[in-house]
Amino acid sequence: MPENKTIVLGITGSIAAYKAADIASKLTQEGAKVEVVMTPSATKFITPLTLRNITGRPVVSDMWDLSDEFSVEHVALAEAASVVVIAPATANIIAKLAAGIADDMLTCVVLATKAPVILAPAMNDNMFQNPITQDNLKKLKVRGFTIVSPAYGRLVSGKVGVGRLAEIEEILCVIKKVLGRNGDLKGRRIVVTAGGTREPIDPVRHIGNRSSGKMGYALAEAARDRGAEVTLISAPTLLPEPKGMEVIQVETTLQMKEAVDKVLSGVDALIMAAAVADYKPAQIWGEKIKKHSPTLTLKLERTPDILAELRGKLLKVGFAAESQDVLKNARIKLEEKRLDLMVANDVTQPGSGFDSDTNKVSLIFKDGRVEELPLLSKREVAEKILDKVASLLEVK
Ligand code: CTP
Repeated sequence: MPENKTIVLGITGSIAAYKAADIASKLTQEGAKVEVVMTPSATKFITPLTLRNITGRPVVSDMWDLSDEFSVEHVALAEAASVVVIAPATANIIAKLAAGIADDMLTCVVLATKAPVILAPAMNDNMFQNPITQDNLKKLKVRGFTIVSPAYGRLVSGKVGVGRLAEIEEILCVIKKVLGRNGDLKGRRIVVTAGGTREPIDPVRHIGNRSSGKMGYALAEAARDRGAEVTLISAPTLLPEPKGMEVIQVETTLQMKEAVDKVLSGVDALIMAAAVADYKPAQIWGEKIKKHSPTLTLKLERTPDILAELRGKLLKVGFAAESQDVLKNARIKLEEKRLDLMVANDVTQPGSGFDSDTNKVSLIFKDGRVEELPLLSKREVAEKILDKVASLLEVK
């Protein structure tokens, strides 16, 4: 999480400079201290005042203007930074950095910092594809810079090509990944399942459940931001696909099981947050069922239990959404499925049901310990679960 981290956001003179305001805003909202450094040409595209209002911090654009209370020299910014992000990065700043030139505040900060540097180039497609720019980017990559490749799309010239600033969500995700690179899940491979599986009845109908996928997605994102290599196996949800991880979309329980089995080798932990259909229609109608008869009987048959059938030494975390005898039922499932940790929640509790942004859960451990958590946001619940996953992995 960028919370309480100092992020130096460098903005250079590109038409995409206005998009930096969105990056600054999102990072500030997530609790980061965003220090904006603009090149003089960036100020022709967007005013320092805009960024100052968004971040609540003074904006540095002129290296020689020491009149401001924030007449901080580049070394202080370079030292305070947890990460330096230049978005958009023009061909010019890329060339200067590749050549080691430091002639403005931004290049001075980059040269003086020990923090990781992320560049999100944005420019005309010919400029981007020019071997000079490509060589410069290669050189910077070798030096450890992280490059967020520009996207394909409409450019200012009216042409379509590669050169548009990458999607803001992608840039934010790279920032979080870089910030979390030394997190407590660094080097761990974690598989998270999410959403509710669907079992088709006919071409237009299915048996489903009310899972929104929010808990599983929060877990996958939180694990990514703590340094884990994450695979998210998702049954259908209405949520945008998270960036910075492998995402495998599935529909049925069987497909989810196949996906889990396929990715499992070398995995440290499996977190089964998905609400998995226990039964599927014994027969799938090839054509839409017509309402000819007054009643219709569906014969259902059991689907495999993904968690219970799993072998291997990996850490297994299950979820038990219960409506009665929550702890007792969850404990039985933990034992039957040989889990390390069971997350139990009472779906009848306010704020704890499906599609809610909050959750109130109890954590049940293999050794019988129970830890009750207060009502928290799903992201906070995810962080608490991952605290346990990280320490259980330490001793495993
Ligand atoms: N689960 C699974 N495969 C299934 C059913 C459930 O892997 N076919 C996993 C879920 O993802 C969850 C845990 O098992 O992590 C418990 O799921 P839950 O639906 O609460 O329990 P069930 O075993 O299905 O038992 P019941 O429906 O009878 O309560």
